[in-house]
Amino acid sequence: MRQAGRSLPGYREVRKRASLFEICRSPQLAAEVTLEPVELLGVDAAILFSDIVLPLAAIGVGVEIVPGVGPVIDSPIRDARDLERLRPFEPAQDAPYLADAVRLLVSQLDVPLIGFAGGPFTLASYLIEGGPSKTHARTRALMYGEPLLWRRLLDRLADIALASLRAQALAGASALQLFESWAGVLDPGSYRTFVLPAARRIFDGLADLGVPRVHFGVGTGELLESMAVAGADVVGVDWRVPMDAARARLGRGVAVQGNLDPAACLAPWDVVRERVLAVLAQAGPTGHVFNLGHGVLPETNPDTLRRIVELVHGHRGGERAEPPVRS
Ligand code: CP3
Repeated sequence: MRQAGRSLPGYREVRKRASLFEICRSPQLAAEVTLEPVELLGVDAAILFSDIVLPLAAIGVGVEIVPGVGPVIDSPIRDARDLERLRPFEPAQDAPYLADAVRLLVSQLDVPLIGFAGGPFTLASYLIEGGPSKTHARTRALMYGEPLLWRRLLDRLADIALASLRAQALAGASALQLFESWAGVLDPGSYRTFVLPAARRIFDGLADLGVPRVHFGVGTGELLESMAVAGADVVGVDWRVPMDAARARLGRGVAVQGNLDPAACLAPWDVVRERVLAVLAQAGPTGHVFNLGHGVLPETNPDTLRRIVELVHGHRGGERAEPPVRS
């Protein structure tokens, strides 16, 4: 997740010449920055370079990604009339570069490519707040106060996510991830009432593709039991929940992804190493996709990420294959 971001030199160079959306809309540039972490860090999968708000831009929603801030919406959604601006997303017409980038990458990669979309709650929060928010208060107020409007909004956003994810899988993506990043602001009952039906609709709508489906959110400790029934094959957890506790909450039949604290990557190597090994030990030897608990921080040294990948690769089935650290 944001593995190709601002910590990497090649990406920074490309960003001097092109805006984020320009990169997303150019299959060549998107492919170039998607490949960089695979080549530089040795990760086992690539994540398509795009953004969760790209389909919104592609259907004509006025959205800008402001560096250091995040997505900012021209004219936020406040009432039923505003919903009309959210027409269905038709990837082949609205964003042909998406499938083109996937096809180009699949022809170049020797690791799987992960496609992704924004979760309906997370996209709704940007659309309603008009940009990033700490509290998501307007979003929750609309959700509680206008449940019918909320329902219609989430259904539309679920259809947009589903169309985007299906298009990426049909173009060759090997796994699909739904980034429901900000759903962790909800209590479990509200999540089940107001978000789970839309999430289920997305995962059910992908089931026939036979592609692994990943569901991720930040601060979702209290939601894991509910997220487990949304239908994903893998649930991503952040660093706040120990992996063994996450497994217990998710139950059998769901793999876990995560959950090294991205801030731990800024610590001295010995500390990083201990924390990586702790994540591996807590998650157990199978059914675990090692990852950070959230996106790479821009100030991260790529060499630390490379060493983490190497350490995880050396650690098979609970064995510590890495030589002891020198002191
Ligand atoms: O590995 C990758 O970089 C893949 C591409 C990717 C981006 N965004 C590009 C990007 C992915 C997978 C995303 C997902 C995304 N975008 C999420 C879900 C994952 C998560 O982090 O929770 C969310 C919530 C967004 C919305 C968004 N876009 C935010 C919050 C920001 C950060 C704004 C900032 O500058 O702090 C963005 C911008 C963005 N999207 C960057 C990248 C690499 C930052 C770099 C830049 O502006 O060039």
